[in-house]
Amino acid sequence: MDPVPPAACAIWLHALISAHRPTGSSLSDRAGKAGLLASIIIFGGAGGIGSAIARWLAARGDRLHLVGRDPARLAAIAREVDAPSSLADVTDPAAIAAAVAAAAQDGGLAGLVYAVGTINLKPIGALTEADFERDWRVNALGAALALKAAAPSLKQVEGSSVVLFSTVAVRQGLAAHASVSMAKGAVEGLTLALAAELAPKVRVNCIAPSLTRTPLADALTRNEALAKAVAETHALRRLGEADDIAGLAAFLLGPDAAWITGQVIGVDGGRSTLRTKG
Ligand SMILES: NC(=O)c1ccc[n+]([C@@H]2O[C@H](COP(=O)([O-])OP(=O)(O)OC[C@H]3O[C@@H](n4cnc5c(N)ncnc54)[C@H](OP(=O)(O)O)[C@@H]3O)[C@@H](O)[C@H]2O)c1
Repeated sequence: MDPVPPAACAIWLHALISAHRPTGSSLSDRAGKAGLLASIIIFGGAGGIGSAIARWLAARGDRLHLVGRDPARLAAIAREVDAPSSLADVTDPAAIAAAVAAAAQDGGLAGLVYAVGTINLKPIGALTEADFERDWRVNALGAALALKAAAPSLKQVEGSSVVLFSTVAVRQGLAAHASVSMAKGAVEGLTLALAAELAPKVRVNCIAPSLTRTPLADALTRNEALAKAVAETHALRRLGEADDIAGLAAFLLGPDAAWITGQVIGVDGGRSTLRTKG
């Protein structure tokens, strides 16, 4: 038999890979129960990063359900991305469960994003027990309860995916971050534990941003001198924008990330790992 020429071999291989590659279509193209499109629920959907994720996902046709506290902000983004929404405070376990049930009721859940958080920066001497408890509840316990409520529905939809949020201040020690770093460290533990427990049906990953221009960070970023000084601590010499984070979240929620789970990924301009001065 004549050997197959290398060029023909490459074309054949490309065709084979293309035929088996995910299409790049949205995760929630995969039907949930009753053949309806499954939804991706976004806690913090009206926030800086949560709303950016909602726009990325809506643009590729994912079905969404947004959750937030502020009725006006939530209604505005829900209208923009044409998604239903639920009002819920994440310190209220019953409200979390009700929001998840509302999101899952038609086609099940193809994904969950927990983009809720606090930046409560104080030296240890100024942190009260109430500070620690609130930061832990909003960042970590809320995420755990959201996942507990959502897990049965997520398991029913093939290829479902979860994205949680940590911070650069877990891997990089930063002064005045004790309470938020402790709470976000718990989120990283939760990510790994549930990625193991829910495999192979549900993928669970976590994004750890550095300082990103959103309402949450406004107290730090509206002071331009401070913002510039913090930007200079990043190898890439700028602060993050919500879209820097949303692009990775959209990827992790989609079929092209089908073999990625149990990862904490820094989107931080290099701050957690690089020092380019001194
Ligand atoms: N921005 C940064 O520099 C930065 C850095 C590291 C990590 N992160 C993490 O990234 C994620 C997204 O943050 P972001 O910057 O987009 O913040 P953001 O703009 O403040 O958005 C957070 C959203 O969370 C919601 N939220 C806050 N407390 C809540 C509660 N008790 N119950 C229900 N919803 C609540 C808010 O809803 P309402 O609008 O309805 O009040 C808000 O829309 C968070 O996990 C944050 O910790 C951000």
